[in-house]
Amino acid sequence: MTYVVTEPCIKCKYTDCVAVCPVEAFKEAKNFLIIDPEICVDCDLCVPECPVDAIFSEDNVPEKWAHFKALNEKLSQELPTISEQKDPPADADQWKGVEPKEQHLDPTPPDA
Ligand code: F3S
Repeated sequence: MTYVVTEPCIKCKYTDCVAVCPVEAFKEAKNFLIIDPEICVDCDLCVPECPVDAIFSEDNVPEKWAHFKALNEKLSQELPTISEQKDPPADADQWKGVEPKEQHLDPTPPDA
């Protein structure tokens, strides 16, 4: 089993999850993070840390976001590790709870 980052993270990217991850399982895209399923140790620490409830165990991903499992897996091969918490985007609070916002997902690396 692994944990999965889903749609609420897009354009919020608070990175509180990164601060508690013991194994550096998070990888960073421009406006979104994902969890590398090969690295995640299923510890559960990140789930309550996310202010927008974006993280679910793979068995509990809401049906509407089920495709994010494959997205996390695919992007984990392409994105760099994020090992430290950073400031969220200036407009992160405006994107809290906005749905849908998957159309805004930018899967490119942060510095691309
Ligand atoms: Fe995203 Fe939540 Fe982490 S918004 S960066 S999954 S704390």
